[in-house]
Amino acid sequence: MTSPVIEFLAQRKSVPISHIGEPAPKDGEIKAIISIASRVPDHGRLAPWRFILYRGEACHRIGEALAALAETNEGPLDDQRLDQERRRLSRAPLVIGVISSPVHHERIPEWEMFLSAGAAAMNLVIAANALGYATNWVTNWFSSDPEGRRILGLAPHERVAGLVHIGSFSGNVPERPRPNVDDLVSEYSGPFEEI
Ligand SMILES: Cc1cc2nc3c(=O)[nH]c(=O)nc-3n(C[C@H](O)[C@H](O)[C@H](O)COP(=O)(O)O)c2cc1C
Repeated sequence: MTSPVIEFLAQRKSVPISHIGEPAPKDGEIKAIISIASRVPDHGRLAPWRFILYRGEACHRIGEALAALAETNEGPLDDQRLDQERRRLSRAPLVIGVISSPVHHERIPEWEMFLSAGAAAMNLVIAANALGYATNWVTNWFSSDPEGRRILGLAPHERVAGLVHIGSFSGNVPERPRPNVDDLVSEYSGPFEEI
């Protein structure tokens, strides 16, 4: 295969958050990344997603609130764990929240809106990687917690598709095992039947 896009996609991989450092993309690059993230299949043109930038001081405030929430949920925590929660969004220079924000529609199922948000997150990752930035897409426990989502700035009907950590990394990350595509593909053999 000779396409540079195929070669890029065949090698794309995440970088551990602990390895992601400065610099973050500049504002013009962030705009380009988000406009590519918005250029995804979206049944009914509902744009059922939005993006939140987490950076700088805001991440420290969020971290304090997440540490307090973790203690509310679990009881008193040791300093190491509290520090982990305080630093949650401060490990990479930029975190972009890809927020699934479904709308009511008589014909288009919510499930398809969720899928479109996943597509937006993946396009965002690819765009950032194509500009030379390292990424890691996580959700973490607080995305599954209603109060955690409120702290992140989400409305009650919204969900976190991804908190994409973005920054720079110049080293090499070992390849992780990938699925064997032959195990994933079959020719259609008729309606499903319980054995
Ligand atoms: C929706 C979603 C949520 C994820 N949340 C987490 C998470 O909370 N913590 C984690 O360690 N990895 C999480 N991951 C996995 C990381 O993104 C992981 O680094 C990634 O699967 C590496 O794959 P890649 O090298 O193909 O990018 C999540 C992945 C997805 C798609």
